[in-house]
Amino acid sequence: MRDISERSLTEAAIETFDDAESPRAQEVLQALVHHLHAFVREVEPSDAEWAEGIAFLTRTGHLCQGDRQEFILLSDILGVTSLTDLINHRLPVGSTENSVLGPFFVERRPVFEAGADISGGVPGDPLFASMRVLDGQGRPIAGAAVDIWHSDGNGGYDVLMDEVEGTAMRGLFHADDLGRVWFRSILPASYPVPMDGTGGEILRAGRRSAVRPAHLHVLVNAPGYERLTTMLFAEGDPHLDTDPVFGVKSSLVRRFDTRTGVTTPDGSVIAGEIHVIEYDFVLAAEPDVAAA
Ligand SMILES: [Fe+2]
Repeated sequence: MRDISERSLTEAAIETFDDAESPRAQEVLQALVHHLHAFVREVEPSDAEWAEGIAFLTRTGHLCQGDRQEFILLSDILGVTSLTDLINHRLPVGSTENSVLGPFFVERRPVFEAGADISGGVPGDPLFASMRVLDGQGRPIAGAAVDIWHSDGNGGYDVLMDEVEGTAMRGLFHADDLGRVWFRSILPASYPVPMDGTGGEILRAGRRSAVRPAHLHVLVNAPGYERLTTMLFAEGDPHLDTDPVFGVKSSLVRRFDTRTGVTTPDGSVIAGEIHVIEYDFVLAAEPDVAAA
């Protein structure tokens, strides 16, 4: 490997991975070099620009501490998180579509009974959610584990709120024999992704919106079915078409209706006016189960 030229360098760098430790390592590393070189050949960065690129990545790394993971934010706003999600969840037609998990899921969340108020005392516009978990034939999936988490009316999550002890606006439910889950909480609101790091630098440079449309996060697990990670978005939110992390799908946009005298699945009546969201989640069977 001598007398490397601008023309021969890429192939030479790719060949250095011909004896990589595994076929997958070889494939990934050679593709990485191939595409990085193609990027540099297209952009032709000056020495100063290349140094700024290194400095940008260094700043990104320094921002990653504790709950702050700036590389995931970069992946989100460049569409890589959603692309990976789409590739890994090519679901059958009729199944509820996936969306990104986001940074605010917490493993240690309370388990609630049907009908519970999960707001944790955080003030806001009251919300009633009524959901079902179904299979591809429309049959209920009893016992499905349904996680919910969302922001308050200012777009804030409990993990970032000093006034919240423990958790709020999140919880785990288990579907009843009819696949039903229902609960009360407060309306979520749109909120910006963090703008004080390198993700913010990219969004400002692109003159892009930082604001995610209002949503509920939902995670559904049931034995024999593909895990569903998704969100429900509020119809009419002005940020639906400029979601900075590319998470919005039309099938996940729902009206958060305002109703009065809502009757819950257990027959109790909610006094006064409340926002209501209803949704049926359809899970895809795991491939080996579907083939059986
Ligand atoms: Fe969120």
